[in-house]
Amino acid sequence: MTMDLFEDALPPPWHEQIAPGAVVLHGFVRDHGPELLAAVNSVVAQVPWRHMITPGGYRMSVAMSWCGNGWTSDNRGYRYSDRDTRTGKPWPPIPEILMALADEAAVQAGFGHYVPDSCLMNRYDPGSKLSLHQDKDENDFGAPIVSVSLGLPAVFQFGGLQRGDRARRVPLAHGDVVVWGGPSRLNYHGILPVKEGYHSLVGPHRINITLRKAL
Ligand code: SIN
Ligand code: FE2
Repeated sequence: MTMDLFEDALPPPWHEQIAPGAVVLHGFVRDHGPELLAAVNSVVAQVPWRHMITPGGYRMSVAMSWCGNGWTSDNRGYRYSDRDTRTGKPWPPIPEILMALADEAAVQAGFGHYVPDSCLMNRYDPGSKLSLHQDKDENDFGAPIVSVSLGLPAVFQFGGLQRGDRARRVPLAHGDVVVWGGPSRLNYHGILPVKEGYHSLVGPHRINITLRKAL
């Protein structure tokens, strides 16, 4: 009997196709948590977490930060821009480790080399959720979205092109990466309310990083 079975009961990394053009790379960045968290913290030091108000007037439970290109919201909704209209400053550049991981994940998922220009960071505290939505503010739907999960686990909902389409529920753990594009690029998706918990590296939060080609 080997002791490491007891030290680390995690299954080896594996790929799971959840829809045509949508793949979960389970455990893909599991061994890079500290560097990824340092990258998140370096961005958040420059762009502190914000709770956005939706065009419908609701305060989002998820806190957000950006690098590369970020969001501006106005009465027309959201759009991407190269600078933060709240401060007038350009968004911080996307950390090198995130550029490298986005490229590797896109290649593994079958999309080929990938150079994103926008990165959204989401912090979910217990109870935070993200309702079903489409990512459609980007100019380039030909490029996939690469989405990294750190910290507390969550249930990712992945539906179809119509809001009412049945959504599959996919458990996501620390270190999982979801890549969706091609026929799935505009599929509805969301995150069910995150349960109370404590992650040894990230604390009482889930952090999600999504890389996109927006402009
Ligand atoms: C998103 O849809 O932008 C984030 C999804 C997630 O938090 O996993
Ligand atoms: Fe999204």
